[in-house]
Amino acid sequence: MAEQKIILSGVKPTGRPHLGNYFGAMKQFVDLQNDYRTFIMIADLHALTSVTDAEMLRQDTLAMAIDYLAIGLDPKRPAAGRAGVTIFKQSAVPAHTELAWIFNCLTTMPFLARAHAFKDAEAKNREVNVGVFAYPLLMAADILLYDPDLVPIGQDQKQHVEIARDTAEKFNRTFGEIFKLPESLILDQVKTVIGLDGQKMSKSYRNTIPLFSDERELKQLVMAIKTDSKGETETKNPEECNVFALHRLFAAESLPDLKRRYVEGTIGYRESKEILFENMNRFLAPLRWWFAPSARPRSPSRPCGW
Ligand code: TRP
Repeated sequence: MAEQKIILSGVKPTGRPHLGNYFGAMKQFVDLQNDYRTFIMIADLHALTSVTDAEMLRQDTLAMAIDYLAIGLDPKRPAAGRAGVTIFKQSAVPAHTELAWIFNCLTTMPFLARAHAFKDAEAKNREVNVGVFAYPLLMAADILLYDPDLVPIGQDQKQHVEIARDTAEKFNRTFGEIFKLPESLILDQVKTVIGLDGQKMSKSYRNTIPLFSDERELKQLVMAIKTDSKGETETKNPEECNVFALHRLFAAESLPDLKRRYVEGTIGYRESKEILFENMNRFLAPLRWWFAPSARPRSPSRPCGW
């Protein structure tokens, strides 16, 4: 049997996830777990560069672990008889900070000063803490400790993986071959999810649909999606409609039919939103069962392999 490849990724525990996080990264981890020995790390130490509320950090860290279990990362399901998935908290493994210190001593200040995240923080004239400066080396330690072949990340984290590779090379040159050089696996950004106002869904734009919203909240949010003011019988361009952009993720085989009705002018935005709500709600319901098991139907139909 060929040796199983390893992936490792980290997520900062900051607030509850929304649909943009789900399609942009979380769901892709769930898909990858079938083919790789998977480590998903909740990066609570990295969060400390900006978070000072200890109780909130504790809650968000636990919530993040539950969220990953709820969407289908399954530590009990060994992939094809092998090791499967490990979800863990960064601060529970002291080796991360220990190795980061060793990397601190191996790395020069000018090298780290070239990192985008540090330069951005400095440009904003904030008082930059040492944690922000050394952030890439803690991340290098996170990665290199687990000998991963691939590190699945968003485009914005690419430089960090390059720094991890450079650090591994320098370490190996100095002390002998210890670390494997990992590659980054850039997550599919095509899955960018549009928010309520038509911009990219993001907490900083306040336009998100939380992954675990209850039925009432979900309905309110969907009905509030911005559209133009075309009447029910007017012809509409699906490509310019925020509601339709979300139909693409949830409508499955009824998408061509919806498209036709948009163009023909036989659907109003209200009905389109109601259909979207029904489809989203069916999709999100199994996630809620994790939080309220009593609401769980006896024989749930599980969409999308959950
Ligand atoms: N820096 C990453 C982010 O902000 C989180 C992270 C920490 C990470 N350690 C990691 C990602 C190791 C991949 C591998 O998204």
